[in-house]
Amino acid sequence: MKIGILGVGHIGKTLALKLAKAGHEVSVANSRGPETISTDVLATGAKAVSAQEAILGKDAIILSIPLLHIPKTAPLFADVPEETVVIDTSNYYPQRDNKIESIEAGQVESLWVKEQLGRPIAKAWNAIGSDSFAKKGKSSESTDRVAIPIAADRETDRELTMKLVNDTGFDAFYTGSLSDSWRLQPGAPIYCTDLTVKEIEDFINTTEKERLPKRRDIAVEAITERVGDGKTNPSADYGIRLNRALFM
Ligand SMILES: NC(=O)c1ccc[n+]([C@@H]2O[C@H](COP(=O)([O-])OP(=O)(O)OC[C@H]3O[C@@H](n4cnc5c(N)ncnc54)[C@H](OP(=O)(O)O)[C@@H]3O)[C@@H](O)[C@H]2O)c1
Repeated sequence: MKIGILGVGHIGKTLALKLAKAGHEVSVANSRGPETISTDVLATGAKAVSAQEAILGKDAIILSIPLLHIPKTAPLFADVPEETVVIDTSNYYPQRDNKIESIEAGQVESLWVKEQLGRPIAKAWNAIGSDSFAKKGKSSESTDRVAIPIAADRETDRELTMKLVNDTGFDAFYTGSLSDSWRLQPGAPIYCTDLTVKEIEDFINTTEKERLPKRRDIAVEAITERVGDGKTNPSADYGIRLNRALFM
């Protein structure tokens, strides 16, 4: 499959490595140009290209950039066919993304992203921490795989997103439509807590929407205190212990 990935940071880099290793033809881009992409990202066969090249002529496009930068990528999608699967990994953190009034007022994050891009999207890989994502993938024969929740409105988006999540070494758990995807947002019991399919089934319906922002912000404070600079991601061990205590 031809896959374009926009963003090669904590999550985009691991996506590029895993999906190229799984045999896909992967093109990656950042905001500064292909020459600035580290060779580490290309180690399993991904190719560094411009942002526009990463998006055109692809079977699937993955957006893995901070949410506040998503609106400026919208023009790149002008010639992308409606049926192309576009998967977004983003989460809203007001500490990083500035306050977005509609999301603060309760708009579901993935619906905001869909509105900015003016096209259908799916949501995946937003609810796994970068360290877990890099280290915990297992083959599909494993019986104790971590599951990654996904959301999508169209059947084609759902199917292809679940296949690609599987190719990255995780079980895929379909949670429903984008309107319901607040259950995958920061602060939710299934957000970055590394659960199995069975555990997601047990916990997803305990999510309390109005409590999520406060729990998200407490987690950000704890992580910032721990790692100091607001940019370094927590280890899987610390992140999971913290999130399970706060969110579940
Ligand atoms: N970190 C995590 O554990 C984690 C887990 C799940 C989901 N997420 C979500 O996934 C998204 C990416 O997170 P991250 O931690 O991987 O971010 P990150 O490490 O800060 O990397 C961001 C990447 O996006 C690129 N980018 C920014 N603006 C762009 C633009 N306009 N066009 C093309 N590329 C652009 C950056 O390229 P330049 O450096 O060239 O600007 C960089 O490669 C975020 O929305 C985040 O909330 C993160």
